[in-house]
Amino acid sequence: MRYIAPSLLSADFGHLKEQIEMINRSEADFLHVDVMDGVFVPNISFGFPIMEVLHEYSIKPLDVHLMITHPERYVERFVDAGAYSVGFHLEAVDDPLPIISLIRQKGAHTCLTINPDIDVHRLIPYLHEVDMVLLMSVFAGFGGQKFIPQTLEKVSFIKQEIVKRSLPTLIEVDGGVNADNAPLLFQAGADVLVAGSSVFKAHDPLQAIHQLKG
Ligand code: DX5
Ligand code: ZN
Repeated sequence: MRYIAPSLLSADFGHLKEQIEMINRSEADFLHVDVMDGVFVPNISFGFPIMEVLHEYSIKPLDVHLMITHPERYVERFVDAGAYSVGFHLEAVDDPLPIISLIRQKGAHTCLTINPDIDVHRLIPYLHEVDMVLLMSVFAGFGGQKFIPQTLEKVSFIKQEIVKRSLPTLIEVDGGVNADNAPLLFQAGADVLVAGSSVFKAHDPLQAIHQLKG
């Protein structure tokens, strides 16, 4: 698959509705929603009031990326708020399985995420439990960071493990994605590319999304 998920974090919040409508008109496949709590990551983004607006105006499925401690407290509310998929960080929890079940029972897609300093092997026991794994290609917390090139090998490795097991699990990559590294990421086996600044800070975001899709 070659899916693009623009990250709302880099949008112009003074014109939120217009920005959502622009994504609606684009070739984007998802709208990526970064939720930060100021504890798991040293930054705070937004929560349910913004989810309400997104749910009302976005025709793209909402791909929620929780960068929070205790995701088990909130995952159901995010599904109720309109999330198509809910992802949380493996390193933020003791046992991801009950949280994956909570999300699935509510009827949303599941995603397990790791930061760049977490051993990619730790995802393997969960590959058959989730719809998607998200490999961070920057440290979670801020948009506009530089892509970490070692992510490419991790994508290839996880792709092999998924193929070996004949699983339908998707691979998402998030952080510093642009027109230069997108073809390499897709080639390595990524299915969903999150792009914040390379879309929203582009002169022509619709064209930027088109270009990322390749
Ligand atoms: C970082 C977020 C990303 C971020 C991506 O913590 O998870 O989704 O918005 O932004 P860019 O594409 O600018 O790196
Ligand atoms: Zn994200």
